[in-house]
Amino acid sequence: MNAIAQARYGIDSYKDWLRKEGLRVVEGLAINCFEVETAEWPRVGTRAAALHLDGRGDFCNMFLHDLGPGKASRPQRHVFEEVIYVLEGAGSTQLELPNGEKRAFEWGAASLFAIPLNAKYRHFNASGSERALFVSTTNLPMMLNLFHNEGFVFDNSFDFDDRVGRKEFFAGEGVMNLVRQGNNTWETNFVPDLQKIELPDFSDRGAGGGNLLFLLADSSMHAHVSEMPVGTYKKAHRHGPGYHVMCVGGSGFSLMWREGDKDFERVEWTHGVVFPPADQQWHQHFTTSAGSARYLATGFGSLRYPFTQARRQEILGEKVAFSTSVRDGGDQIEYADQDPRIHQVFLAELARRGLKSGMDRFFPR
Ligand SMILES: [Fe+2]
Repeated sequence: MNAIAQARYGIDSYKDWLRKEGLRVVEGLAINCFEVETAEWPRVGTRAAALHLDGRGDFCNMFLHDLGPGKASRPQRHVFEEVIYVLEGAGSTQLELPNGEKRAFEWGAASLFAIPLNAKYRHFNASGSERALFVSTTNLPMMLNLFHNEGFVFDNSFDFDDRVGRKEFFAGEGVMNLVRQGNNTWETNFVPDLQKIELPDFSDRGAGGGNLLFLLADSSMHAHVSEMPVGTYKKAHRHGPGYHVMCVGGSGFSLMWREGDKDFERVEWTHGVVFPPADQQWHQHFTTSAGSARYLATGFGSLRYPFTQARRQEILGEKVAFSTSVRDGGDQIEYADQDPRIHQVFLAELARRGLKSGMDRFFPR
């Protein structure tokens, strides 16, 4: 045994736990959830895989669950937070609250919900013939590395009764907090359909898009949905790692690059493709569908509980970088300042598909 191993340095308690669980791990720059091969996960009672995307950072992971026809997951509770997005199928989730009360809600494709911290829960597939496929973004890597004790995380009887949320939050109702563009939230526990929910304006990011953030189960997990109208694209921007971007409607592509790179990495996306841009990597999203496109982004650090000082200053309006031009010290590239190749890539893609650009007003001839 070498000295480092003997001293027990450099431990990754999350990855050690994964190996013990025998869970399949899938890695990549981008992953299409519909193409992932899953395997039985006895702890949960689903076919599952852990998704480790290149840009996920240190705090988050994803679990993909395939719940077979007529099946139910095993009852779970755990001291990590998770936000769940339903890719396919229909079913319900039952929760048992600290006071013994039960809550149940029914979900379908494009539903989004969070499990309140350490609440007991179980998922049920409502169909006898079709699978239910859902993906969760969690902060388990952070929790296992913080406590490095599986029992604390998975076998903990502490009741977080402050995390439960109001009864109506499980029925798709919520509270709208309109603060400013890009920081408007819908506080709830359950969103029935991300493809249909109405979005406030977010034209600061360009081309008439909409955007809504979610405060789910009073957690520190972030989730937001953005829409880009047909024939448009957003301005490039950058931020910290771990925001898992996943297409929930329409189609498009994204370009990603690091400061000083000569070329772009390109990710094509349709429903179910997920990719988190890496730490401070520039990224820009483009619609190529005949209608508008929507994507969901999930990660660690919510508007209420941002976790880092930079993010807190951003949210409190003390130092707003995310919608400020890079010329003024911010983290956004205005259309007029972007690499001229970018607009050409977009126009060529639209031409190939016989679509008209909705960007002319931003690029006067
Ligand atoms: Fe982003």
